[in-house]
Amino acid sequence: MGGFHLKSITFTIVIVLLMWCSAVEFCNANRVGKHWRQSRNSAASLSKKKSKGNHSGHHSSSSGKQKPKIPQPKTPPKQGGSTVFNVMDFGAKGDGKSDDTKAFQAAWAAACKIEASTINVPATYVFLVGPISFSGPYCQHDIVFQLDGTIVAPTGSSHWGSGLLQWLEFTKLVGLTIKGSGTIDGNGAVWWKSVPYDNDPFDDQAKLIFPTNLTFEQKPPTSVRSSLGGKMPSIKPTALRFYGSFNVTVTGITIQNSPQCHLKFDNCIGVTVYNFSVSSPADSPNTDGIHLQNSKDVLIRSSSLACGDDCVSIQTGCTNVYIHNINCGPGHGISIGGLGKDNTKACVSNITVRDVMMHNTMNGVRIKTWQGGSGSVQGVQFSNIQVSEVQLPIVIDQFYCDKSTCKNQSSAVALSGINYENIRGTYTVKPVHLACSDHMPCTDVTLTNIQLKAQLERYHMYNPFCWQTFGQLFSPMIPPVECLQVGKPSSNKIQGDHDSC
Ligand SMILES: *[C@@H]1O[C@H](CO)[C@@H](O)[C@H](O)[C@H]1NC(C)=O
Ligand SMILES: *[C@@H]1O[C@H](CO)[C@@H](O)[C@H](O)[C@H]1NC(C)=O
Ligand SMILES: *[C@@H]1O[C@H](CO)[C@@H](O)[C@H](O)[C@H]1NC(C)=O
Ligand SMILES: *[C@@H]1O[C@H](CO)[C@@H](O)[C@H](O)[C@H]1NC(C)=O
Ligand SMILES: *[C@@H]1O[C@H](CO)[C@@H](O)[C@H](O)[C@H]1NC(C)=O
Ligand SMILES: *[C@@H]1O[C@H](CO)[C@@H](O)[C@H](O)[C@H]1NC(C)=O
Repeated sequence: MGGFHLKSITFTIVIVLLMWCSAVEFCNANRVGKHWRQSRNSAASLSKKKSKGNHSGHHSSSSGKQKPKIPQPKTPPKQGGSTVFNVMDFGAKGDGKSDDTKAFQAAWAAACKIEASTINVPATYVFLVGPISFSGPYCQHDIVFQLDGTIVAPTGSSHWGSGLLQWLEFTKLVGLTIKGSGTIDGNGAVWWKSVPYDNDPFDDQAKLIFPTNLTFEQKPPTSVRSSLGGKMPSIKPTALRFYGSFNVTVTGITIQNSPQCHLKFDNCIGVTVYNFSVSSPADSPNTDGIHLQNSKDVLIRSSSLACGDDCVSIQTGCTNVYIHNINCGPGHGISIGGLGKDNTKACVSNITVRDVMMHNTMNGVRIKTWQGGSGSVQGVQFSNIQVSEVQLPIVIDQFYCDKSTCKNQSSAVALSGINYENIRGTYTVKPVHLACSDHMPCTDVTLTNIQLKAQLERYHMYNPFCWQTFGQLFSPMIPPVECLQVGKPSSNKIQGDHDSC
């Protein structure tokens, strides 16, 4: 009874706080919960509210109250046929200290109404911007976000409430482009170090890597977690996320030091990323470069990705993905998966990864699935991959487990039509690791022109390993991969789950 009473008092206090909060900057971020949906909705409603308010900044023309008029900056807004909205005209300071979130929201509200308009984030300025959703279900198409300055994330925990899944979000847009020479800086260091992130998965492939000199300690993922004591929320945001959008482009910009993943596309059709950079330290935990999920018709090219986790991570629901001319490293390589976690179904098909340089990465090209999943990965081409000092250049792991133990299960995501061609360079732990499910062997795995040289460094070295892997080998094959079983598995082991995708 007392507990109930206490709860209702707490609840009342929270409500009062929230009402008071709504007048204060950033409180919007405070009250959103873990769910991205919540954050999206409340951020969207905030930006709606602002679009009716005094968002004209230092220029005088103000928007109408009910019938929102387009603000008319003093400078002629037309530039090469596009209507330009400069965030400075909406009150942004760009001094790296003042909170410019409202100015960005106001500029967005204005740009949203005009097809092919441009939001200008000018060079040399640094804009402190809190969590924000550029939400577009009612926006015009083909908006350009011209980013030449720097956008930095706030480092105070108060800006992040109990945790948000993303910092900068673009949703439900058609034809949006982010371009320019600017930088998005997530100020991730405060996140990487401050909390005991029990939720953080570690990379299972680390289990294969043992230093030969035991006095040379390999940093366990936990060492990064300790120091400062829990300040930031345990849910860490992705720096820039696109959701539910068509034909989006990201080019020219750099995203650095994200608290977690740098650039994520979720439920998007038509994604182009080129001349793009990610830059974060090798030991920053779970900082994927580019993360793809439920997205199709994706082109990623001519980009340089350096981070603490997968350079590119391809998750369930992805098809027609073409990745080429990528520099990856440091990082964990280019990965499909983990798929099938918690007995889920995963479907990935038609993935091409070619002309990639990997330097000093944990893995090269990898497919990882959990036991107990279903669905399939079909039609994957890894070619012209140059590795240097890569611990595990070629990996299939159908026993992926980011906890200490996972129980054995017979169901698995079926893997077939996986081609490796022209994979060359140096490795430091094991050249080939193909571990497929007992009940669902990998089929049509072909290795063509594999030339991998051991580089004796400080790790224990292994020979190529295969388990339940069927397919073909085409020479040269250095070192020989005799463990791969040429042909098809016996009929009682034929995969049956393909059509379900
Ligand atoms: C509206 O904008 C003007 C011009 O920048 C500013 O002086 C004023 O304080 C703003 N008013 C409100 C209510 O934000
Ligand atoms: C790549 O982007 C930079 C800005 O970051 C720009 O200066 C350069 O011209 C672009 N290169 C190409 C080939 O588009
Ligand atoms: C092991 O590593 C430590 C620290 O790097 C070094 O001082 C030591 O000489 C190494 N021992 C051997 C046997 O290589
Ligand atoms: C996306 O681009 C493709 C190719 O240019 C075009 O056919 C398609 O209609 C576009 N999608 C939308 C929703 O505009
Ligand atoms: C596979 O994806 C590529 C783009 O990477 C696309 O051009 C091709 O048409 C797709 N193939 C099929 C069969 O859909
Ligand atoms: C799972 O299977 C492997 C290989 O057959 C075996 O070594 C291991 O002990 C099993 N683990 C459990 C938890 O049953």
